[in-house]
Amino acid sequence: MTVVASALPTVKLEKKAPSKANVLLIAVFQGEEGLEIPGTELLGNSELKSTLEALTAVGAKGKTGEITRIPAPKGSKAQSVVAVGLGNPEKLEDETLRRAAGSAARALRGEKNVATTISDFGLTAAVEGLILGGYSTRGIRSTEAEEDEAPAKITLVSKDGKDEFEAAVIGAEAVAFARTLTNTPSNELYPESYAKYLKEQATAAGLDVEILDEKELKKQGFGGILSVGQGSARPPRLVCLSWKPKKAKKSVALVGKGITFDTGGISLKPGAGMWDMISDMGGSAAVAGATIAAAKLKVGVEVTAYLPLAENMPSGEATRPGDVITHYGGLTSEVLNTDAEGRLVLADAIARACEDNPDYLIETATLTGAQVVALGSRTAGVMGSDEFRDRVAEIGRAVGENAWAVPLLEEHDEEIKSKAADIRNINAKREGGMQFAGTYLSQFVTDDVEWAHIDVAGPSWNGGAARGYTTPRATGVPARTIIAALQYIANEK
Ligand code: BES
Ligand code: MN
Ligand code: ZN
Repeated sequence: MTVVASALPTVKLEKKAPSKANVLLIAVFQGEEGLEIPGTELLGNSELKSTLEALTAVGAKGKTGEITRIPAPKGSKAQSVVAVGLGNPEKLEDETLRRAAGSAARALRGEKNVATTISDFGLTAAVEGLILGGYSTRGIRSTEAEEDEAPAKITLVSKDGKDEFEAAVIGAEAVAFARTLTNTPSNELYPESYAKYLKEQATAAGLDVEILDEKELKKQGFGGILSVGQGSARPPRLVCLSWKPKKAKKSVALVGKGITFDTGGISLKPGAGMWDMISDMGGSAAVAGATIAAAKLKVGVEVTAYLPLAENMPSGEATRPGDVITHYGGLTSEVLNTDAEGRLVLADAIARACEDNPDYLIETATLTGAQVVALGSRTAGVMGSDEFRDRVAEIGRAVGENAWAVPLLEEHDEEIKSKAADIRNINAKREGGMQFAGTYLSQFVTDDVEWAHIDVAGPSWNGGAARGYTTPRATGVPARTIIAALQYIANEK
């Protein structure tokens, strides 16, 4: 499998300013009386003063994300100064810095020697913003990248924070890992090739990996995964990744939707825009990235990730509307719409995950168009057990992956009933489509498990231009939310 070409800025941490930096990246603020430059060890007092004058002269205001490039002041060995605005100094938040650093990383493309102290305002946010904002992918091309497209090489100058720095890099790399897989087209990335790639990557990170192929899935009764995959010439897989640290007090199951392409199946999707469905495995990629990060961070909880991988295709062997399937564990579903396939594979994976009796279950999926209608394309919908759902949504917001808690609906407990099977996979009405999917999944979660379902149909993909540290196409959401949730659970008493 060829994954798309992608590149990340090189970010290093040094105690002292490098003597040969060409470009100095500095922070500026929009103060009450105009532009403000905070002190930085990259510039002496008189250099700071002339830099402020020069920036003011060219109209820099210090607004959030504003980028201004000027010649370096006399006395500095650098050639130029790039000033990035952080807005009102009294209202500085991590997310402001993360976004500004992301814009700066793109403005610095092609630069081989940048020094900065923007980490003074938040080390983790600066690292995440620089790495993720500077992430680039060229797809699969016959031509080489131009030199000025190359990601920047940046030295963060800070006396301390080595551990925090390393953890931030691991988190950002998990997001990049998810983005790159999700950006890879489905002729390259299909269940078998994807599973193999995950096995290589996860094994290298020290995880245990198990892959169930179609024969094993059949033997063990994974009827949901098999049903979605049966229309494709490329058979489905179930990948299990586990991280088992010594002395872990809690266990967390993770589940991620891994539809490598979603045509809708016999309930075929319209042609326009169908190409975006290469990203229908974004949930599984975020979960895989987060699980690998958990191992690298040595997070003190047991993590078991289940990734059901299937390609949803129409064919003579595909599942038909009206078919009744038997999930792992025995519950049956009437499949009224083959385009509501994510929930069918997730059902099996959730049932399997609950067999391990985890304390928590976090599952994520590009599950419903209704999520985008309800919350827009940048905010995930979180459903599940009341308290844990609220916590996960809060964690998402705290790391800059916007999320909102959504209630499951009482009426769906009735509407999910089927005349032909235990439950049906779509509701008769269009109302509350995101929540209906949540209620459907809830049927497979055992009672004593704290669970959260994160619908990222919108936020996992950026169909527009780069903004802040969100680059075009796959975003890697919600990898950082999952990592932060694992850390939260590890630190809980
Ligand atoms: N993968 C789609 C959901 C999706 C839509 C993700 C847009 C990203 C962007 C999912 O499998 C799907 O097709 N859902 C249907 C469900 C419906 C048939 C009940 C939908 O939302 O239309
Ligand atoms: Mn679908
Ligand atoms: Zn889908």
